[in-house]
Amino acid sequence: MSKDLILGIESSCDDTSVAVVDKDGNILSSVTSSQIEIHNQFGGIYPEFAARAHVYDILPTIHEAMNRADISPQRLKAIGVTRGPGLIGSLLVGLNTAAALGRGWDVPVLGINHLRGHLRSVDLEENRSLFPSMVLLVSGGHTLLCLMQSETDISIVGSTRDDSVGEAYDKVSRMLGLGYPGGPVVDRLAKEGEATIPFPRPMINSGFEFSFSGLKSAVSRYLQSGAEINKPNIAASFVDAVIEILIEKSRRALKKYPAKSLTIVGGVAASPQLREHAAKLTDELGIELCLPPIKWATDNGAMIAMAAWDYIHHDVYKPPTAQVELLVSDF
Ligand code: KG4
Ligand code: ZN
Repeated sequence: MSKDLILGIESSCDDTSVAVVDKDGNILSSVTSSQIEIHNQFGGIYPEFAARAHVYDILPTIHEAMNRADISPQRLKAIGVTRGPGLIGSLLVGLNTAAALGRGWDVPVLGINHLRGHLRSVDLEENRSLFPSMVLLVSGGHTLLCLMQSETDISIVGSTRDDSVGEAYDKVSRMLGLGYPGGPVVDRLAKEGEATIPFPRPMINSGFEFSFSGLKSAVSRYLQSGAEINKPNIAASFVDAVIEILIEKSRRALKKYPAKSLTIVGGVAASPQLREHAAKLTDELGIELCLPPIKWATDNGAMIAMAAWDYIHHDVYKPPTAQVELLVSDF
């Protein structure tokens, strides 16, 4: 029986997500057990509850993914599992489960950097990458620009000094009483409002680094200032500031590091406003815009499997000699 599939396991944050993916990025199955209902009551992720929910969900989720793909473990070339960055309790559940299954099934286990997973989400279902590419990675944990010369040649151009953009969405959502996760709900509300409030655009005119904590605080100060509270207008003004920062930073990076494409990945890449403005930028510059299907922008096991294939195709992977090495996060 040919070993032509990878089982991808993602448990770095609040979703237990497992997928079976072939070497071309075709997804035979993808099953995600969401924890939104657990964390929504806190307006953000409660790490201890996240780890516990992973413990309950991980084996049934793996079982379901294998069943839906209708395969036996003999078909697995490897198990790819997120090894970091992420919440340590959540990561350990995925890592230990992968290690145990790998031993039981006699399948190698590859520890995958979560960010590499996002970077490779763009090639799920269809080959969209066009190198060299300037990549804007915008998620709940990270915000960075990096230049990708190939699947494995990645250099960081700039990242955030403080909060990530997804975190800013989530905090603003909480301040407005809109629940977790904040991105989709803030985006939806923003469409009903007008960007009437001049929130700051921190560091917009300098370098490639980002800063979102000042913007987040500006929204908080505005809410406490006694000014009229028009939630759609506050959301629209916040989104307007965020998008302008992301687009202008991307523009500057593309000016310094010319590329054939702009790739946007991570949970915030699901934002319709960001997609629309990025399309305008790439049209203007005459380059391609590479986006993952919205479904694969947020955390998922398929992107981890996709990144695991790179390790096999490019022979850059050295199997860990001890399980603790699985946890040492490289990029
Ligand atoms: O990549 P991801 O699923 O998890 C991390 O690696 O952090 O990203 C989650 C983040 C959350 O902050 C969420 O609010 C944001 O992505 N997000 C969005 C949208 N959908 C999810 N932000 C803006 N617009 C969206 N439609
Ligand atoms: Zn992520």
